[in-house]
Amino acid sequence: MIRPGLATLSLMDVHVVRHPLVENVLAALRDRRTPCDVFRQLAHRVSLLLVAEATRDLPLADATVETPLETTTVRRLAARVVAVPVLRAGLGMLDALLELVPQAQVGYFGLERDERTAAARRYYEKVPKDLADASVFLLDPMLATGGSATMAIEGLAELGARRVRLLSIVAAPEGLAHLKAAVPDATVYTAAIDRELNARKFILPGLGDFGDRLFGT
Ligand code: PRP
Ligand code: URA
Repeated sequence: MIRPGLATLSLMDVHVVRHPLVENVLAALRDRRTPCDVFRQLAHRVSLLLVAEATRDLPLADATVETPLETTTVRRLAARVVAVPVLRAGLGMLDALLELVPQAQVGYFGLERDERTAAARRYYEKVPKDLADASVFLLDPMLATGGSATMAIEGLAELGARRVRLLSIVAAPEGLAHLKAAVPDATVYTAAIDRELNARKFILPGLGDFGDRLFGT
């Protein structure tokens, strides 16, 4: 589904997480017949795989523990992790991050697209202080026009975040291009790059309105 034009995105750090289990979950997420309760489980499952990939370069620090047999050196996570789900749909990814990084702090960004113009509006934010020394993971499953992701990453930068990793489940080429133009050093992890946006700025083939499918609205 990747278009040749995507080569122009080469400067931005985009990781497409290629894995049979990711494909298998995407197949069911895309299926319009998948009910809300199953959709939620699938969103959680694919998010676990994305989080595992996106945390690959987190720093570790040596420590010592006593096993039942002897003393040994172990390595523990040495990063302060902050997860920021974008309301509402990003909430479907939060439990996966907290399952893998239970000590993570959590901030929230409330963004909503205008149904007519697809322009994002920021309506809420509450994030932990001192983001400069944190590894920030922005959770938003759909990257369509890229307006919401750009607004969230710029907002987090204003609040001090130095490096933000965006975890999305489905991204559109148009949204990645928009994000690259606005935030050239953004880092994106996604399960799929789809074909294009439709006239209403929904991702094709996509999976519909993620928030509505997640919450049954
Ligand atoms: C969806 C999605 C993203 C945004 C992506 O949220 O969760 O935040 O659209 O679109 P964009 O790339 O064109 O900005 P929506 O505004 O529908 O709000 P919701 O999560 O509350 O349903
Ligand atoms: N938001 C969604 O939930 N789905 C899309 O396809 C685009 C924006």
